[in-house]
Amino acid sequence: MRLSVNLNKIALLRNARGNNYPSVEDFAYEAISLGVHGLTLHPRQDSRHATCNDAIEISSICKKNSLEFNLEGNPFSLPKDDFIGFYELCDITKPEQITLVPDSIDQITSDCGWSPNYKENKLKNFLTKIKHLDSRISLFINPEIESVEFAANLGLDRIEIYTGPFANSIQSINIKEIKTTISLIITRARELGLGVNAGHDLNLQNLPHLIDCGEIDEVSIGHAIIIDALKYGFHDTIIKYINTITTN
Ligand code: PXP
Repeated sequence: MRLSVNLNKIALLRNARGNNYPSVEDFAYEAISLGVHGLTLHPRQDSRHATCNDAIEISSICKKNSLEFNLEGNPFSLPKDDFIGFYELCDITKPEQITLVPDSIDQITSDCGWSPNYKENKLKNFLTKIKHLDSRISLFINPEIESVEFAANLGLDRIEIYTGPFANSIQSINIKEIKTTISLIITRARELGLGVNAGHDLNLQNLPHLIDCGEIDEVSIGHAIIIDALKYGFHDTIIKYINTITTN
């Protein structure tokens, strides 16, 4: 399992004051020096946290350091104010991985993944448009088998399992049930030749449960890393996450 660190929350803190402090680039370099496997940004049309410039900068830093840049976002986000459009951003940054997320502007954060048939034709058109980039394409999906089949039928490379419901059920009696569902999703994805990522609401407590479910290629984690960094510091937090994914 590999760790891609989502730096959105560093951008959110920076935006609170309007200057470049904290600097997203500084934390990118620090994360790289600590051995993370990739960096993620999820710019939105309202630039509430990561901006398009952040994505351009971080993708360039990743390329120079032979690290994967994972650009997440809604494929249908059009240019607005400082946001240059998701397709345009993919075209400029040429990310190693593009994760397609059905987010909407009124959400606080992504609260669902793709389900079968959602904007299928529009999605197919987008996939044709980005083919020349040669990026790995991952679809952020709801934790259901039908969505895995949907991703495979579209010829995608990977799925990213939306782990919000998994994280929420960790303390409850439903944990066995959701772990079984995730195991089945992983197995089906592998049968169909898809890689498997996972993300949302993952943390040091629930990661071992996720690891139990089967072979996952990559987790992308943002929110909990920054919260843990308040307790342990950024350096120690990243080491804790790397140790958790490599020793479980
Ligand atoms: N994956 C996707 C598609 C997301 O939208 C996000 C949040 O930006 C994450 C993973 C990371 O979630 P969290 O910040 O809860 O770790």
